[in-house]
Amino acid sequence: MAQTQRKILVTSALPYANGSIHLGHMLEHIQTDIWVRFQKMRGNICTAVCADDAHGTAIMIKAAQNGITSEELIDGVRQEHMTDFNDFLIGYDNYYSTHSDENREISNSIYTALRDNGKIAVRSIVQAYDPEKEMFLADRFIKGTCPKCKAEDQYGDNCEVCAATYTPMEMINPVSVYSGATPVEKESEHYFFKLPDFQDFLAKWTRSGTLQDQVANKLAEWLDSGLQEWDISRDAPYFGFEIPDAPGKYFYVWLDAPIGYMASFKNLCDRTEGLNFDDYWAKGSDTELYHFIGKDIINFHALFWPAMLDCAGYRTPTGVNAHGYVTVDGKKMSKSRGTFIKARTYLNHLDPQYLRYYFAAKLNASVDDIDLNLEDFIQRVNSDVVGKVVNIASRTASFINKKFDGQLSIEASEADMIQSFVDAGDTIAQFFEKREYSKAIREIMCLADVANTYIADKAPWVLAKDEATLPQVQEVCSVALNLFSILATYLKPVMPNMVADAEAFLGKELTWDNRSELLFGQTVNKFKPLMGRIDQKQIDAMIEEGKLEAEAEAAAKEAATPTTVESELAKEPIAAQINFDDFAKVDMRIALIAKAEHVEKANKLLKLTLDLGGETRTVFSGIKSAYKPEDLEGKLTIMVANLAPRKMKFGLSEGMVLAAGPGGEEIYLLEPHAGAKPGQRVM
Ligand code: MSP
Ligand code: ZN
Repeated sequence: MAQTQRKILVTSALPYANGSIHLGHMLEHIQTDIWVRFQKMRGNICTAVCADDAHGTAIMIKAAQNGITSEELIDGVRQEHMTDFNDFLIGYDNYYSTHSDENREISNSIYTALRDNGKIAVRSIVQAYDPEKEMFLADRFIKGTCPKCKAEDQYGDNCEVCAATYTPMEMINPVSVYSGATPVEKESEHYFFKLPDFQDFLAKWTRSGTLQDQVANKLAEWLDSGLQEWDISRDAPYFGFEIPDAPGKYFYVWLDAPIGYMASFKNLCDRTEGLNFDDYWAKGSDTELYHFIGKDIINFHALFWPAMLDCAGYRTPTGVNAHGYVTVDGKKMSKSRGTFIKARTYLNHLDPQYLRYYFAAKLNASVDDIDLNLEDFIQRVNSDVVGKVVNIASRTASFINKKFDGQLSIEASEADMIQSFVDAGDTIAQFFEKREYSKAIREIMCLADVANTYIADKAPWVLAKDEATLPQVQEVCSVALNLFSILATYLKPVMPNMVADAEAFLGKELTWDNRSELLFGQTVNKFKPLMGRIDQKQIDAMIEEGKLEAEAEAAAKEAATPTTVESELAKEPIAAQINFDDFAKVDMRIALIAKAEHVEKANKLLKLTLDLGGETRTVFSGIKSAYKPEDLEGKLTIMVANLAPRKMKFGLSEGMVLAAGPGGEEIYLLEPHAGAKPGQRVM
């Protein structure tokens, strides 16, 4: 049974650092963790790393909404994620962050290698730009009316009503979701990875056995229709790594995200004796590398990533293992139905091993979706785990404990049956290895049925009534506990805590190889109940909590006005340096607020009439949450007088008044010291 020891590095996709872990994520981490625990149990050297994916616009905006820096956000979220994984018994050897020194270094070096190999192209593209926020807008940060079916409130790339696709500027009344401003077109230089140069390499690589057939077939369609250059840069402001030779340009989050796998591993190597980075990443290395991912991110892992790695002189993955999506009761997880269940919400009500078992019982090596049917979940866990497996021990252990002082029979009997349980381990191992967990579980449950039938036939509770048949009770229960011990071995990757309790009871650490070492003649320890049944009430309470959370979230979203987002962006680091001439271009003037009025139907705006000492300007300003119009009239403030006029829904705004603060009630209009006169220039 001895095999050569493999060296394996395993990763799960890096969860975004802007939200909580939910049961969809958990499918992936459970799938990975079962595989990793299985490999470790088999005696292989298997290392599992993950990290939070901490960069990108979404994270920057979320931090701004919460009134904290991006760094503060990602630190907090990472702690939360780590606790969730730990409590779900997911045992990463390292859980790091893409916002790390290691990741910056490796990302820079990979980028430089791509560039030096002539695989980076630079060219200008035109993009939607928020003139108020002074930032480029990704399509999903623009909303407007569909040019085709006129449905309102659609995203900037496609219409959810009629499925039309378009560019944001083709929409009717497009607006930036940050500021409500009308986006303008603006040109900027972008950096592209020349993916088409890797056409032949990828055509071969995707057919080299690294991918599931389903996945390779899908990719073949894309490869046939020709690859596009990949835009790997984003303009400031962006939370990420600045491109080394391109100030003001940042790596697109998806460039440094997979490099985060390497960085997390590097960080682990640097503090682990005997773990060597190059052993796992150098070209030609004989170690194995597997990425577990969801089906939505296949192109990043099976096209861009291998091309980047190969071009930069690294090995490519041994396997990219894609899984499907989690649905709940046959439908997409939904906040309003309470089925968008967070990991923490689940843990508040249920043992994580129930879900680990259920997902294992349904998972296979395909990309098919996995349905968490809540009724089936209860039924399956209760009947399989509690009714079949735990039952073997609970029906027999008490006899051994009470009648025989924990002593198992000396004589080994039922050798054939026990051997068949041991032999099944080879098939079960094959199933785990190939990620056919559902088949492994089916096999294990068939064995559990055999064990239960054996116990029912022998009926030790009947034998125990007669002093004369008492030795048989010891024999039957000892056989049963040996069968149980073998089944517990097979279930150890799936339900590690339950099996740890079983190990404590049996007084044996269970490994795949020692399952044939039987437990006759030994004593066992006191048996403690291993696992209870799921009660429908627990499920109901979990769904109820999910609903309440969704409601609270929706309310909080409602309360977070774009004004907050806007002013909180000021918490980003001080902007790039400018020289005096740049500064002098901004003409700021002392202005007297001659009139301040509400604007009908505007939630945030006040209309200000400003006196510049002879000249009058109308300015719409988003300060309604902080000021009553009557309190402003007659006050002096400072305005930007040479800002290009902007057409707004309510009229033309001819400049901008200056204010500070986080937003909401806390907006502070700037006011000069006494003596300043309207129209004077501010320098
Ligand atoms: N940050 C990227 C991954 C970068 S990897 C270098 C990302 N993050 S994610 O948080 O959106 O998703 C993380 C993983 O969870 C992905 O593999 C994704 O497919 C998976 N899932 C997210 N929702 C899921 C379900 N509902 N069901 C199953 N898996 C799901 O993508
Ligand atoms: Zn439409």
